[in-house]
Amino acid sequence: MSPATSSTITLTVNGEKHTLAVDHRTTLLDALRERLGLTGSKKGCDQGQCGACTVLVDGRRTVSCLQLAVGAEGREVTTIEGVADGDRLHPVQQAFLDLDGYQCGYCTPGQICSAVAVIEEHAAGWPSVATGDVRPEAGAPELTAEEIRERMSGNLCRCGAYVSIVQAVARAADARTPGTEAEGATA
Ligand code: FES
Ligand code: FES
Repeated sequence: MSPATSSTITLTVNGEKHTLAVDHRTTLLDALRERLGLTGSKKGCDQGQCGACTVLVDGRRTVSCLQLAVGAEGREVTTIEGVADGDRLHPVQQAFLDLDGYQCGYCTPGQICSAVAVIEEHAAGWPSVATGDVRPEAGAPELTAEEIRERMSGNLCRCGAYVSIVQAVARAADARTPGTEAEGATA
C-alpha cells in the first residue's frame, strides 16, 4: 500500500475551526489563501525571505510559506484578517494608519503581523541581535529604533517606508506599555 499523500486536518484560524483535506505538501500560506479565501497574507518570494506571508501561530510569527498546513493542526493561527478586535483596529494597525507606515498592500499585512509579535517578544524580555547586554539580569532591552529595525528585518519593503514603519511600531509598543516610546524613533 502506498503511503497517504493527503490528510484531513482541522485548522483554527482567527478563532474559527476549518476542516479541510490537504495534500501533505500544501503550505499554510496556500491553505489560507487558496482554500480558506484569506488573501490578506501575501505570497512574495515563497521561500522565506520577504516576510509578506507572516502570520501568527500560537502568537509567534511564522513565515507561512515555509510552514506546512498539516504542521499547523491543533494550533491557533492568526492572520491579518484576525488582528483587529471587531471594528476596533489593533494598536499596530492604528499606528500604521496614523503614521503612514505603509504604501502598499503587499508587504503591510506581514509587517503588521510581525510588529504585533515583536511588541510581545520585547515585552517578554526577548533579546535581539541588536541587544547589547543579553544577560538575564540586564532585563528587557529598551525598544530603540535600532532594536525595532533589527526585529523587523525579516519583513522587506521595496519602496522605503521603513522610517514610518519604525515610528508606527514604536508608537504601538508605547501604547502597550506607556512611557517607553523608542528612542529616536520619532525623529
Ligand atoms: S512569501 Fe513567505 S517569506 Fe516571502
Ligand atoms: S509599502 Fe509594501 S513594499 Fe513598500
